[in-house]
Amino acid sequence: MTMKSMPMKSAEIRDKFLKFFESKGHQIVASSSLVPHADPTLLFTNAGMNQFKDVFLGFDKRPYLRATTSQKCVRAGGKHNDLENVGYTARHHTFFEMLGNFSFGDYFKQDAIRYAWELLVDVYKLPADRLWVTVYAEDEEAYAIWTNDIGVPAERVVRIGDNKGARYASDNFWMMGDTGPCGPCTEIFYDHGEGIAGGPPGSPDEEGDRYIEIWNNVFMQFNRDEAGVMHPLPKPSVDTGMGLERTAAVMQHVHSNYEIDLFVRLIAAAARETSSADLDSPSLRVLADHIRACAFLIADGVIPGNEGRGYVLRRIIRRAIRHGYKLGARAAFFHRMVPDLVAEMGTAYPELVSSQARVTEVLRQEEVRFFETIEHGMSILDGELAALDGKGVFNGATAFKLHDTFGFPLDLTADVCRERGVSVDVAAFDVAMAQQKEQARAAGKFRMASALDYRGPTTTFHGYQTLAFTGKVLALYRDGSPVDELREGELGVVVLDDTPFYAESGGQVGDRGVLQTARSIFSVEDTQKIQAVVFGHQGVVRTGVITVGDGVAARVDELARARTVRNHSATHLMHKALREVLGGHVQQKGSLVDAEKTRFDFAHSAPMTADEIRRVELIVNNEILANAATEARVMPIEEAQRSGAMMLFGEKYGDEVRVLTIGSSKELCGGVHVRRCGDIGLFKIVAETGVAAGVRRVEAVTGDNALALVQQQQALLAEAAAAFRAPVSEVPAKLAQVLDNVRALEKDLARLKARLASAQGDDLLAQAVEVKGVKVVAAVIEGADVNTLRSTIDKLRDKLKSAIVVLAATSDGKVTLIAGVTADLTSKVKAGELVNMVALQVGGKGGGRPEMAQAGGNDPARLPAALASVRAWVEQRL
Ligand code: ALA
Repeated sequence: MTMKSMPMKSAEIRDKFLKFFESKGHQIVASSSLVPHADPTLLFTNAGMNQFKDVFLGFDKRPYLRATTSQKCVRAGGKHNDLENVGYTARHHTFFEMLGNFSFGDYFKQDAIRYAWELLVDVYKLPADRLWVTVYAEDEEAYAIWTNDIGVPAERVVRIGDNKGARYASDNFWMMGDTGPCGPCTEIFYDHGEGIAGGPPGSPDEEGDRYIEIWNNVFMQFNRDEAGVMHPLPKPSVDTGMGLERTAAVMQHVHSNYEIDLFVRLIAAAARETSSADLDSPSLRVLADHIRACAFLIADGVIPGNEGRGYVLRRIIRRAIRHGYKLGARAAFFHRMVPDLVAEMGTAYPELVSSQARVTEVLRQEEVRFFETIEHGMSILDGELAALDGKGVFNGATAFKLHDTFGFPLDLTADVCRERGVSVDVAAFDVAMAQQKEQARAAGKFRMASALDYRGPTTTFHGYQTLAFTGKVLALYRDGSPVDELREGELGVVVLDDTPFYAESGGQVGDRGVLQTARSIFSVEDTQKIQAVVFGHQGVVRTGVITVGDGVAARVDELARARTVRNHSATHLMHKALREVLGGHVQQKGSLVDAEKTRFDFAHSAPMTADEIRRVELIVNNEILANAATEARVMPIEEAQRSGAMMLFGEKYGDEVRVLTIGSSKELCGGVHVRRCGDIGLFKIVAETGVAAGVRRVEAVTGDNALALVQQQQALLAEAAAAFRAPVSEVPAKLAQVLDNVRALEKDLARLKARLASAQGDDLLAQAVEVKGVKVVAAVIEGADVNTLRSTIDKLRDKLKSAIVVLAATSDGKVTLIAGVTADLTSKVKAGELVNMVALQVGGKGGGRPEMAQAGGNDPARLPAALASVRAWVEQRL
């Protein structure tokens, strides 16, 4: 090629793609969040088709049959995981943009392939002779379209079969995850030319960077279920994905994605923040990649944590920090790349702009934390690696220690090892991890929890409908061991076949109450599941003897239950309101609901303002006033997903779930709730605090607890008002007035003290004695502080011209001493020595300059004698 045309910018490639498909009747749809909505099967959005999953499956209908998107994707930690490759190949990213076109039962293979070819060759003007394609080996139709209709020479159309060890396990059979829509695909490759290492698809060296897949066209035909069975989709559909970064590399005549326009600024930012001169360092590419993944994930509500999505994010951040550390960074730097990212991508993704401050802060906090341990961890890691000297396997137990004590995720350790040509003993790491978990379990075991040995029928829970129910004692335990009976005064656990007692789960505490048999009363302090559906009632026998087989009248403590239930229902309303007021990134991180309060932890990086708290209270109380009836319905999980019910990622849900609608909130929940919103009474937030980086905690009360709180606060105010003899409404003004007065009085007092001290100073003049022609003063000034003592000494020296002065003050059993000597006398008498002489007599010591020195002591009783000794001491020296 003699002259290259002006290369197309990434933004233009993105734009032209969407416009092209719009001209072919496609609806342009916005990118969905990186956190898949209501799909617990998926870690992160990993393909353009995710948001259309239900449309392909036939569960959801859209007003269009054709769509096109530019979708943000993260492939880290899930089925499609590229994290380990980032920095080592020219084409892998954790975060990337996928351009896609979709047909929902409309066009199929013929049109999909034609559109793809037209866009690449006619619009993007790629040289057709550089394009290769692959088809699924059994897909004769696609093969024929490519070779006959499009006219790609047969030697550049490669058939790929089940090359990954199982039926349909193939590079040319695409699956979103272990389950979900899937089908055969055809992929388009670009040949970067002879200068780059690598072979064509299907060849042994296909992993090189020469032949790069730029576009995958999937012919969606099946839904794969958990058992791996393929069910035909209602209508054959099309799902395609073109990598924006890879395509840009082709269009901009570079051989690495990291050389395209989107990365120039980010690599420069990484170099700037780590003061790196070597712009080719793979670590800079890692940083440029990882800042995109991290910032977009945080913008979409993920925060660094120890499990699930949060842990993947933490791994990416820590991997980035390690690369920065390698380049020389020794303090938080990564978050300073955020403004560069926002400048580069904020126009295409406005959520980056609106969340910039939060993203920066979350990253900064995580960085500061990891920088506390990275140095120590790296020295351990380096020490082991030096011993290995590029040979052998890195000790798995050490890798675990690095993980457990220094916060080094396994892949970070593996990343460092890989640089030194060493692999990690992952099996040994897993063993160490399992051992530690086992120990933790043993140590933290609940007093009656799973360790109870029980084999027998399960418990049926009746507490949704009633607070009283009769059942039978199935088993009894004392000190963790099964017994036949429990006697008066004994603590133990009672297992029942039927019970109205709720066993702690989903944040709601277990019920309290009473079990009554013909011969005994057992009071229940707590109810816990000892197995999935076996309820243990824990408590004490108040009277009589309770025996296995006894009939039991079980009655839940009505008041405690009513309060707990109010708090639980209010939690749902509050969760909803928090999302409304603070944003969709608010996700539950933990909750505890008991009879006193609800405590709710959620992802959010800044303290809530007073106004935000007020708004949440208002929304919840409005829902309470609207007084809608609560509805609980058990349904298949898929139906719950479609209904938009809130579910928590990482939570294990069964096939059947309970969807709870309270007011406008809809959540999966097995807990007990109020019948109508109005039952909650009043809702009031009492505290808002931070519990960890990026996690806030709100505590709130409801019903009679809220009323009690309001009454108590009002009583306090009334008391204050009475003290001020003013109405409550005037308390703040009165208080301000009193504080002003106090400040004014304090000033006056200080002035008076100074005046008093100086008056005493005048008296002291009169007390001065003459020793060999020198005036000597040794005296106590009552109530003086150090400053007063000093200024008095200054004054005395001025007035007496040639003098030796020791002044003392006492307070709280302590003595303060200052000595001053005029300059003409310091050759004979040094203030430091003088003050020390006095101090030694009152249990202290001190010293200082020849002209002025200070000391302290703790024996005021001996002060008069000590001061009296000054005269003789001075006399000897003059
Ligand atoms: N969903 C297909 C992919 O991600 C297009 O490759």
